[in-house]
Amino acid sequence: MISQAWSKPSGRAWNGSRWATKSSASPSISKAGAFAEFLVADEKNAALKPPSISFEQAAALTLVSVTAWNALVAKAKLRVGQSVFITGCLGGVGRSAVQIARMLGADVAGSCSASGREEALALGVGEVVDYRAFDIAPYRHRFDVVFDTAGTLSLSQFGAMLKRRGMSLHIIPTPAKMIGCLLPSRHHLVFGNPTPECMAGIAEAAGRGKLVPAIGRTAPLSEAISAIVELEMTGLPKGKLVIVPKR
Ligand SMILES: NC(=O)c1ccc[n+]([C@@H]2O[C@H](COP(=O)([O-])OP(=O)(O)OC[C@H]3O[C@@H](n4cnc5c(N)ncnc54)[C@H](OP(=O)(O)O)[C@@H]3O)[C@@H](O)[C@H]2O)c1
Repeated sequence: MISQAWSKPSGRAWNGSRWATKSSASPSISKAGAFAEFLVADEKNAALKPPSISFEQAAALTLVSVTAWNALVAKAKLRVGQSVFITGCLGGVGRSAVQIARMLGADVAGSCSASGREEALALGVGEVVDYRAFDIAPYRHRFDVVFDTAGTLSLSQFGAMLKRRGMSLHIIPTPAKMIGCLLPSRHHLVFGNPTPECMAGIAEAAGRGKLVPAIGRTAPLSEAISAIVELEMTGLPKGKLVIVPKR
């Protein structure tokens, strides 16, 4: 699925009105659904790739960071000194969310596998919990924001973890969560739709080294299907699978 695309130095990306080079672009969610060497994207969904990051990094970063940015910056308006709990803090969205939250000056707690504990601490998660041993008791009413990137918490668990005026953010909608989020409440659904502001913010943060994706594997476009099959059969130890067009 094209979730993001980039142009090679020698390649070009058609943005609707002109060819752009060295850009990172993300189609709207409704337009995603294939692998390809070229992507037609709205100009507003494209940003120049910072020279300091690779095209593979730009590709791995875009969708997950747009989602995390829409959640923490656009929706929650997270501020210095606020506290946020992020489930799946070493996943694609979770890792971006941790880095964005730290950049904004928030205190971060989060869940991941027990084996990821040291990595999560190094990333800036101040309090790390193994999600297989998660007990809500120590986390009651402690957070301004709970961002459930793993889609594992119930609305009542969110309610228990949030401060009185806190906000919960969801990216994996279940029927119950959709209803909970549609009603006026502190629960909100978030999507990975790019905006010019978030694309510019992400490019700027990536250029300063504040937003770094994890890449588990790269594969050429010709091997995309087998790479996806392998991913589905075995999973990746960590990081994204990046499909690279012919160089
Ligand atoms: N709404 C949107 O627009 C939007 C945008 C992007 C993504 N998404 C969705 O959001 C989800 C996350 O995307 P992603 O790219 O971050 O996926 P990902 O890279 O696979 O990360 C998922 C993470 O969740 C962790 N996890 C699994 N079970 C957990 C549990 N019970 N509690 C806490 N963490 C748990 C995994 O850890 P282990 O690997 O150690 O088990 C992994 O690190 C996907 O379902 C994706 O489809 C939605």
